[in-house]
Amino acid sequence: MKPSSLFCCVLASLQSLAGALTIAEINGNKYISSYSGQAVTNVTGLLIAKGPYGVWIRSTSPDDDEATSEAIYVYGSSVGANLTVGDVVSLDGRVTEYRSNANYMYLTEISSPKNVQVLSSGNAVTPLVIGQDTLSPPTVQYSSLDDGDIYNVPNGVANVSAVNPVLDPTSYGLDFWESLSGELVTVKKPVAIKTPNQYGDTWVIGDWLATGRNKHGGLTMTDKDSNPEAIIIGSPLDGTKNSPDAKMGDQFEDITGIVQHVYGFYAILPLTAIKTTTPASASVPPTTLVSEGKCKAISVGSYNVRNLNPKSSHLEPLAAHIVEYMNLPDLLFIQEVQDDSGSTNDGVVSANATLTTLIDAIASLSGVAYAYVDIAPVNNADGGAPGGNIRTSYLYRPEVVKLYQPNQGGATDATEVVVAANNGSKPVPALSFNPGRIDPANPAWESSRKPLAAAWKAKGARRPFYTVNVHWASKSGGGTSLHGDRRPPLNGAVEARIAQANITGSFIAEILELDPAANVIAAGDFNEFAFVQPMRTFSAVSSMVDLDEAVGIPVEERYTYAFDMNAQALDHMYVSPALAHKKSTRFEHIHINSWAAYDDQVSDHDPSIALVDVCGC
Ligand SMILES: *[C@@H]1O[C@H](CO)[C@@H](O)[C@H](O)[C@H]1NC(C)=O
Ligand SMILES: *[C@@H]1O[C@H](CO)[C@@H](O)[C@H](O)[C@H]1NC(C)=O
Ligand SMILES: *[C@@H]1O[C@H](CO)[C@@H](O)[C@H](O)[C@H]1NC(C)=O
Ligand SMILES: *[C@@H]1O[C@H](CO)[C@@H](O)[C@H](O)[C@H]1NC(C)=O
Ligand SMILES: *[C@@H]1O[C@H](CO)[C@@H](O)[C@H](O)[C@H]1NC(C)=O
Ligand SMILES: *[C@@H]1O[C@H](CO)[C@@H](O)[C@H](O)[C@H]1NC(C)=O
Repeated sequence: MKPSSLFCCVLASLQSLAGALTIAEINGNKYISSYSGQAVTNVTGLLIAKGPYGVWIRSTSPDDDEATSEAIYVYGSSVGANLTVGDVVSLDGRVTEYRSNANYMYLTEISSPKNVQVLSSGNAVTPLVIGQDTLSPPTVQYSSLDDGDIYNVPNGVANVSAVNPVLDPTSYGLDFWESLSGELVTVKKPVAIKTPNQYGDTWVIGDWLATGRNKHGGLTMTDKDSNPEAIIIGSPLDGTKNSPDAKMGDQFEDITGIVQHVYGFYAILPLTAIKTTTPASASVPPTTLVSEGKCKAISVGSYNVRNLNPKSSHLEPLAAHIVEYMNLPDLLFIQEVQDDSGSTNDGVVSANATLTTLIDAIASLSGVAYAYVDIAPVNNADGGAPGGNIRTSYLYRPEVVKLYQPNQGGATDATEVVVAANNGSKPVPALSFNPGRIDPANPAWESSRKPLAAAWKAKGARRPFYTVNVHWASKSGGGTSLHGDRRPPLNGAVEARIAQANITGSFIAEILELDPAANVIAAGDFNEFAFVQPMRTFSAVSSMVDLDEAVGIPVEERYTYAFDMNAQALDHMYVSPALAHKKSTRFEHIHINSWAAYDDQVSDHDPSIALVDVCGC
């Protein structure tokens, strides 16, 4: 046979085969349909929902394979014009794989519908109750392509669309949601696990098994478990709007809608807007930790203050948090302090006015007078909003802690670990610039905040203690969705943070080499989770211990931030072995922002606070 006639015959046989396809056969048991691009005729299904740009139909001749969805989207803005939910229709069209962004999953749909015929009307439409009429969503793994850990480095070694794995909806969350693509489902007893986004899109779990539930009702990510059992409720199909005012732990009426991959996530597009039944209680207790005002037990807090400048509307509420919820820590590490002109890009780099305005607000609420230390960065060299010049700074109560041998460095001065005095056989580490920035010329800090190191002496202490205030490179550039095509998902700037972890950790290792019993605290916004490579590198290089681990905070309560489906810890305090092993060491996260409604959030991060004995021996 000539090649051209072979081609012609293969095409012809596929066309005739396609004429008899069921919806399950079109979807198949993989992500990408094996009929992609082909014309299909007389596809028959029950109309289960209508949307502004198309309709969803469910097979009238289902198979019993959990991996093949029985429903499909029919894309065409006029296709639903003369159709009613409950009609059984037959139609012709083309199987199409659609996505609007190269990092998203493809949606299998029938496009260009024609010859739409109503075979019968008034048929019952019954949604599938998730976990009853379907499997329950897997609770740990997203995809077979993540090799067991969604944060494996390197990221992005495979694409779902290229590998096109056979769906295993009992094991992998994305496979589960893909196996329901186009289906009409009901979520029983939904609970919000995060504040909605600005469009009112709301992450929920239903009454199925969920792991990682925290006390506020959210889902906290833990090592190798980033909560694939959660699903986002998107824009309602009837044109109503979900309220953006919900918060973690709010309970809703049962939600019925269509499963669809939209904007990079599997979502349920509800038939109508979410209705709240029971809002979560809004009360958060303040810290229980009480400073003794001397080295035996000083309180040390850390707080990302979200682009703070002298005119910030959240400055007064922030001061109130420091007074009422953190109980006026003796030493406070803050991150995201903007310069005195905020994000106006005018060459101003000093944050003196920002810090004194905050200190004055605290004083007027409490009568307590804080001092500050801070090193202004080189203009626009440290990332963040252009002109904002965000940096890390310390506030401290001078009656309790003071800089040890102060010698403030400039933006480009690298502080070094030096020996202050040799007291017998025991050298005392000190810093050549105190406070000083760590290796500011190292390319690893390009467009990123340089850590601010300081040595301090607390009231009554025999020896100094040491701090490093960090704000490592943010994930927000270059990351991809946990529901996206790239596996493992791209963890934005992870390579930069690994390098930053090594530099920060090596500096601390020099202190501990001189004095293995030194009290060192590294705190701030590390922009990384404790179980992911940058933090593992940091603790391996420095010997520093995660305070969450040291004091045994329950894994579900280890969070300072909420992003997509996960409550998560971007902020940490790590301490040297001497502090980690001391029985008196305490640590708490104050979940005042991460779970709250937007209007009640002062920052996007929660503060944390520790109580430590820094007397030294
Ligand atoms: C289309 O499908 C329906 C039901 O699946 C069947 O009854 C009908 O004969 C088919 N029509 C054609 C033209 O194949
Ligand atoms: C809907 O029905 C009207 C009246 O029969 C017809 O003119 C119109 O073309 C139909 N629209 C579609 C999209 O089938
Ligand atoms: C995955 O897809 C993206 C976008 O098309 C592409 O840039 C990347 O190279 C692909 N990765 C692999 C491992 O094929
Ligand atoms: C900010 O304060 C520091 C230390 O108090 C001082 O050296 C510096 O000149 C001040 N900068 C401005 C712009 O006021
Ligand atoms: C060294 O020891 C002396 C006496 O034991 C003490 O007064 C002094 O503060 C120590 N110096 C440092 C830097 O710790
Ligand atoms: C840290 O950096 C040093 C110097 O560049 C390098 O030799 C070492 O391998 C790095 N360590 C880790 C754990 O990345």
